Amino acid sequence: MKIRAKRPSVAVFPGTFDPITNGHVDIITRCLSVFDEVIVAILVNSEKQPLFTTDERIELIRQAYRKNPRVRVDTFSGLLVDYAMTVGASVIVRGLRAISDFEYELQMALMNRRLNPRIETVFMMAPESYSYLSSRLVKEVFHLGGDVSGLVPPLVERRLQEKSPPPGHTPSRRRRRRVR
Ligand code: PNS
Repeated sequence: MKIRAKRPSVAVFPGTFDPITNGHVDIITRCLSVFDEVIVAILVNSEKQPLFTTDERIELIRQAYRKNPRVRVDTFSGLLVDYAMTVGASVIVRGLRAISDFEYELQMALMNRRLNPRIETVFMMAPESYSYLSSRLVKEVFHLGGDVSGLVPPLVERRLQEKSPPPGHTPSRRRRRRVR
């Protein structure tokens, strides 16, 4: 009897990641308990004006996972399902924070299924403690002088300070207002 080696299960976790937050980190951790490999795929979108360049976003995620060979970081453009096929992934993972995410995510999942029925979208629930967390809010809160520690990996926080010190900003932690 021939014993065939099982193909590793690969999931793509796509997004803008401008920047990666602890909500994304939580979803990646959940992916690792289900799939052999996770490809964090950053959408290169010329229409959006991101705070972090594509290379910076790649570096921030790579640094967070430098000790984990099961997490790969890549970029893509064009159709997500086409990208998933080229990297041998049969699953797209998206995080759901609240009911408000659902409609948009359902539309994307159904469109992706229509485009390629062989690719399945799997939703993972973010913890309640991150249900309000988004890259957009992190940037806004940071820019207005709020404390984002605990919401993003420490390197992201440092890079935010280097990149976008808010007006009159003093890099002292005590001066930052904590946002809950
Ligand atoms: O972090 P985001 O902005 O929520 O991620 C959105 C993303 C990258 C998952 C979505 O914009 C996407 O899949 N873009 C690729 C274009 C595509 O495949 N569109 C058709 C299917 S909806």
